[in-house]
Amino acid sequence: MAISSKDGLPPYFNIDPDTALAELGNPSTTANFAAIANACTQGRQDLASRGLEDGEVRHLRLFSTWEITRYLIPVAAPHFRRVLKANPDLPQGRSESEGGAKWFTLDEVLRLRTHFASEGSKAKEYRPYRPEGLPAKLVSVANFKGGVGKTSTCAHLAMSAALDGYKVLVIDLDSQGSMTSIFGGKVTDEWQTVFPLLARHYAGHLRRENQGRLDRGEPPHPIDDTLMEALDTRASSLIQKTHWPNIDLIGAQLNLYWAEFQIPVWRMQARGWKLWDALVETLEADGVLNDYDLIFIDTPPALGYLTINGLSAADILLVPMGASFLEFDSTGRFFDMLHSTFQSIEEGENMAARALGRDEMAFEWDAVRTVITRYDGTQQAELAGLMQSYLGSALSPHRQEFTALIGQAGEQVNGIYEADYRDFNRETYARGRETFDETYAAFKRLVVGVWRREELALQAEQHPEPVS
Ligand SMILES: Nc1ncnc2c1ncn2[C@@H]1O[C@H](COP(=O)(O)OP(=O)(O)O)[C@@H](O)[C@H]1O
Ligand SMILES: [Mg+2]
Repeated sequence: MAISSKDGLPPYFNIDPDTALAELGNPSTTANFAAIANACTQGRQDLASRGLEDGEVRHLRLFSTWEITRYLIPVAAPHFRRVLKANPDLPQGRSESEGGAKWFTLDEVLRLRTHFASEGSKAKEYRPYRPEGLPAKLVSVANFKGGVGKTSTCAHLAMSAALDGYKVLVIDLDSQGSMTSIFGGKVTDEWQTVFPLLARHYAGHLRRENQGRLDRGEPPHPIDDTLMEALDTRASSLIQKTHWPNIDLIGAQLNLYWAEFQIPVWRMQARGWKLWDALVETLEADGVLNDYDLIFIDTPPALGYLTINGLSAADILLVPMGASFLEFDSTGRFFDMLHSTFQSIEEGENMAARALGRDEMAFEWDAVRTVITRYDGTQQAELAGLMQSYLGSALSPHRQEFTALIGQAGEQVNGIYEADYRDFNRETYARGRETFDETYAAFKRLVVGVWRREELALQAEQHPEPVS
């Protein structure tokens, strides 16, 4: 409470100690946390009973002919209408008024795109580039600083990729579950998060190690009930559908944080367990990399074990940061920590590898880029220019602008792609959308380049040049 003094002094002068004491209340104990948690639960129930609950079943908005032909399927609107008319079996959309604009679900847009891809001009890109026979690309968005735009960037990229026609899986590694609530995920405990996959990887390691112990006549490590249960869990049972027809989710929830305590305990029990491989190897073993085009991993604002798993799984690593001194500075420290963390893993592994006469390992990422987020050109141009000059190609060329549309979109709508442009002035919408389309375009250039590199390598492997 601000007590403005009569003599016009700022509010922090002349605070009377006895009054302050009287206002203070008793010291807090652990029990107070329970009381506050309880109050929040009751308030939450009250909100839910008034229909204000977040995470209700979500519905994706419809897409109009204008939006489809401008942003999603590159044909002129009159041509689009003619094709629909000539093919009555195709989705025809619905209009809100007689003769009004036609609106389509995203599922219908995807079917229309398939039609145009098979019947339309071969010169146009109706479907995004995706070489056959190569696995999905994993993209992690990370920075140990919170509030830098990790989740927003990750969610917008997932949505743009889905609109572009890619099949997307989103994995939430943040126990705060922001990404999960954006996609309307329902997660009751850690067993519906990646936790059992990590546990299964560890249990698999123990089993193999026990085989060796038995052969040597040593007692096996016990495999407890949790691990036994994890051994039967497959990624498919954790993947949920979302309100986006081509975005699936492995969600997170507060209990996932438990992994940060459990993983080091497991690692103490089995020093040879490669904990950093747990996520990517189980996803691979379960065929997930063949079921999707792109897998986006949102990470918590910390460099803990979950983030390490997300980072080591990544083919492409994006590190969002604002164009401010503090964020530039802490992002530099983040890279410093990444360096020492992964270097110490490599050193540990390679020491063992050398002793056993095995090949040495080194982590590798297809591309690592920092991305400027929430950019304000009127205030931050100089700093951003400086960051650009120091970071060079390690900084993504597009600066994702600050846009009020993100906060404005409302409770049930997340970000620019879920917003209905009729709720905004069309120009404002177009500008806000443009910056996220550009963020996606810069990202897509990376993915396309990376896939192409692998496609060429695969071809060279299959048809080697004759040795002359
Ligand atoms: N381009 C943007 N324009 C405006 N607000 C943004 C933008 N990107 C993110 N935000 C806002 O910044 C805040 C932090 O973003 P968030 O993605 O949750 O960060 P993190 O996941 O790194 O903690 C959120 O309130 C989000 O709505
Ligand atoms: Mg976040």
